[in-house]
Amino acid sequence: MVHAIRFHEAGGPEVMKWEEVEVGDPGPGEIRVKQTAAGLNFIDIYLRSGARPVPMPNGLGLEGAGEIIAVGEGVSDLAVGDRIGYADMPLGAYAEERVMPAKIAVKLPDGISDEQAAAMMLKGMTVQFLIKSCFPVQQGQTVLWHAAAGGVGLIACQWLNHLGVTVIGTVGSEEKAELARAHGCHHTINYKDEDFVAQVKELTDGAGVPVVYDSVGKDTLRGSMECLQRRGYLISFGNASGAPDPVELTELSAHGSIYAARPMLFDFTAERDELLACAGDLFEVVSSGAVKIEINQRYPLSETVQAHIDLVGRKTTGSTILMA
Ligand SMILES: NC(=O)c1ccc[n+]([C@@H]2O[C@H](COP(=O)([O-])OP(=O)(O)OC[C@H]3O[C@@H](n4cnc5c(N)ncnc54)[C@H](OP(=O)(O)O)[C@@H]3O)[C@@H](O)[C@H]2O)c1
Repeated sequence: MVHAIRFHEAGGPEVMKWEEVEVGDPGPGEIRVKQTAAGLNFIDIYLRSGARPVPMPNGLGLEGAGEIIAVGEGVSDLAVGDRIGYADMPLGAYAEERVMPAKIAVKLPDGISDEQAAAMMLKGMTVQFLIKSCFPVQQGQTVLWHAAAGGVGLIACQWLNHLGVTVIGTVGSEEKAELARAHGCHHTINYKDEDFVAQVKELTDGAGVPVVYDSVGKDTLRGSMECLQRRGYLISFGNASGAPDPVELTELSAHGSIYAARPMLFDFTAERDELLACAGDLFEVVSSGAVKIEINQRYPLSETVQAHIDLVGRKTTGSTILMA
């Protein structure tokens, strides 16, 4: 028997229980993994709280890394002893050991540690698809990125800076502003005290930005639309402050014929070649030293409740991992 976090009903952090579970042998196309760590992500909050309903009871967690200790029938490109990282459904990353589909696992290069992988597979691949596929940024552009000191945010600031893009980042405190600036964010706006729309207009001489990457949702989405240039792109990829009010299609034309998208990582890594390309790009930029993975919080898996409280309470910065 091993331990895992399970939940039997949606609700507050207290619904997560540290339970003994039977893991079993991997079936066809599956692997059994002894995990080093799991990654903590804001999507885990939506899933645990019921904002995104899932069947009950269930495990939690979509990101992790560790060593393969058994392979099922038909698995040809992975073997016992391989170190792997992953970021995808099915739920169950918050576990000491787990069985999972081999098709979502990516072999880790020597230069990437298990802890780094657990801290970046979901967040880093999200940045990759957002800035390379969803709205491919160009050198010289200026972009607005909300929650710039968060897990996804700190990776984005560094990667965009590396690509020659000017980053305007919003943050919830002065400490977070400093941290974002130390990771390549050129201009920070504390959106708790300042009007971020006015600040973006001032920083861009009234022009606005060609793209806003908005993961805060309810509190920022309408302001984000105001920050866009004519024919700009509103990329809404998360709801940390809650689901935004619906936007009428006609509002897009009223804001200067803007485009809006609500993308999910899993649709950009659904095919094996897409997953390997996305992860490969992430491994390369991290191995080169251009993007550093900041693990600013570590908790034992058994203390996941506290980790959730801290993430929702806006107490964390950068990546958080849960140690198996
Ligand atoms: N679409 C996708 O495929 C995809 C994939 C990965 C992540 N995401 C989204 O990306 C976002 C960032 O994820 P993450 O795991 O790296 O989390 P995170 O950014 O480390 O944490 C969320 C941050 O959002 C900010 N925030 C603003 N209003 C908030 C509120 N009312 N409650 C809580 N936080 C608030 C806080 O930063 P400040 O205090 O600085 O405001 C907080 O630290 C999330 O919205 C997540 O759902 C989407």
